[in-house]
Amino acid sequence: MEKLFYPNREEAKKARIRNICEYQELVEEAKEDYEGYWGRLAEEKIDWFEPFDQVLDESNPPFYKWFIGGKLNVSYQCIDRHLESRKNKAAIIFEGELGDKRVITYRELYYEVNRTANLLKNRFGISKGDRVVIYMPMIPETTFMMLACARIGAIHSVVFGGFSADALRDRIEDAQAKLVITADGAYRRGKPYMLKPIVDEALSKGCESVEKVLIVERNGEEIEYIEGRDYLYNELVKQESPICEPEIMDSEDPLFLLYTSGSTGKPKGVQHSQAGYILHAMVTMEMVFDIRENDTYWCTADVGWITGHTYIVYGPLAVGATTIIYEGVPVYPDAGRWWRMVEEYQVNQFYTAPTAIRLLHKTGIEEPKKYDLSSLRILGTVGEPINPDAWLWYYNEVGGGRCPIVDTWWQTETGGHMISPIPFATPIKPGSATNPLPGIMAEIVDEVGNRVPQGEKGFLCITKPWPSMIRTIWNDPERFKKSYFGDVTKDGKPIYFSGDGAIYDENGYIVITGRVDDVINVSGHRLGTAEIESAIGNHDNVAEVAVVGKPHQLKGESVFAYIVLKSEDSLGEDVELLKEINSIISKEIGAIAKCDEIMVVSGLPKTRSGKIMRRILRAIAKGEKINQDISTLENPAVVEEIEKKFQMK
Ligand code: WT7
Repeated sequence: MEKLFYPNREEAKKARIRNICEYQELVEEAKEDYEGYWGRLAEEKIDWFEPFDQVLDESNPPFYKWFIGGKLNVSYQCIDRHLESRKNKAAIIFEGELGDKRVITYRELYYEVNRTANLLKNRFGISKGDRVVIYMPMIPETTFMMLACARIGAIHSVVFGGFSADALRDRIEDAQAKLVITADGAYRRGKPYMLKPIVDEALSKGCESVEKVLIVERNGEEIEYIEGRDYLYNELVKQESPICEPEIMDSEDPLFLLYTSGSTGKPKGVQHSQAGYILHAMVTMEMVFDIRENDTYWCTADVGWITGHTYIVYGPLAVGATTIIYEGVPVYPDAGRWWRMVEEYQVNQFYTAPTAIRLLHKTGIEEPKKYDLSSLRILGTVGEPINPDAWLWYYNEVGGGRCPIVDTWWQTETGGHMISPIPFATPIKPGSATNPLPGIMAEIVDEVGNRVPQGEKGFLCITKPWPSMIRTIWNDPERFKKSYFGDVTKDGKPIYFSGDGAIYDENGYIVITGRVDDVINVSGHRLGTAEIESAIGNHDNVAEVAVVGKPHQLKGESVFAYIVLKSEDSLGEDVELLKEINSIISKEIGAIAKCDEIMVVSGLPKTRSGKIMRRILRAIAKGEKINQDISTLENPAVVEEIEKKFQMK
């Protein structure tokens, strides 16, 4: 049995949840009276303009509604209500990659967000329900934009800055955005990089719905400026009034869209709500990060992903915490950058991705020793399974053997943490997210909803709706139903399936084994193999392609493509082909989806009905044994061919 790491008893006394019994009590409370539990929290945590009169409406599954009739405003929840007791407290501490610093107090945040909200409303005619695409670097203005949208009831869709012009255009068009907000660019690896030209390119290829582009000046590099369409934020915003009344929003009005990849087709616009979303963000800030009044909290994610939304912006601000925003990469100017920042800002909670931990472990194993990291109280990970090596280094060298690691499992669709240790209550171990949070009915089941026995792999499902769940896929309710409520049933009724496989280990803890669908996880970035295949398919000489994830030391998984060529005559070097393919992927999706390796094969294994057997291709790439009868395939010989090629590598 693997060793468990127990929380420090003295520290535990000061925590919100002090031991496993207190955790268990909450679990029981939620089990006995599910709606009562969530209703109690909603009353306690949210400053309602008007109270809700019903906790949960399950009349039209899977379109669940929470806190019916309640009125609120999320920007009010994140800012205004702190003005009395925290007006001069740092809301945001920003550090640029080159070392420039900014501290924004709650009072300043209030003015900035209000001015921005007025600008959006008055100058650009943005009103409740309009979609605004935000394509921005990691700077404070990005949060002003998000909160300004929330203030006036506009629906933001943040697009990660690593996506290409084509990917940006698809997202703008799907959401029918009226306004695009961007920056000239920012700094990365010590050099300026550009975003505005990518917006220009996206808009030159369609995006009829876009009326205006708002540009934040960050790196001061030269940009093209289209008269009548483009506006510079920094000067304009100063002319606006610092007071903007918050729009009164319904609990179920959409707060934002965030596009994510599925196993088929184009990216899905995951739609989140107001009340349920902000409630769960707050509850988990308190339960999982045990956030306290004087804490300095740092989540290193990019706001372009859900982690950035919930745990850099909405969660920390809603609970009145101090949240750090860092612009650049973890290894600039060296692999000690983050630890130096932990020391300088006396960070108490540090939350990052396993891929970053692996990188820093590999390139800067001795770096943590050079800094005083004694302020740290809780460490966190998210996004992918973490290997014991990296976990132990993080635990011992970064956390000094003192800090619990919360391995948090959740998804874009869940809005916030679902499965995670409680820092000072749950004994932890490397590679396990341990138990579901109170009020989250996560279970590993088989196809018909029966809980799997210990040690047996099953589907990770959520058997009851929860407040911060995805409400629908933007403009595509049918796809919403099919994507999440199609595969697994319980008592004959569809339940939410996450797409992940998992097992209960010998402690009864949940261990995530990874996606069981055609979604891969590269450096914590979620990519659909179907999208990458469709890009590669645009190469002139590619007849057929199948993309799978291949285990990778730093990235967790890398993109691996099996390729059948149209003409073997023009078969150049694989290196050449790989280059060509990657330039297509970079153009259609972004550099994050580039292939690490390709393998040219004479055919893909298929069933007699012509379905590509991805499971086999995945197993080979992972170096696993094929425990499936291949003799019934249409072309069993190609499996042997592919296996041989692998052995020769
Ligand atoms: C997928 C969701 C949640 C924010 C970041 C990713 C994987 C997430 C863990 C974890 C193992 C994890 C799952 C999940 N994942 N957290 N702690 N251990 N795997 O959000 O892009 O929506 O991806 O990330 O496979 O389904 P996302």
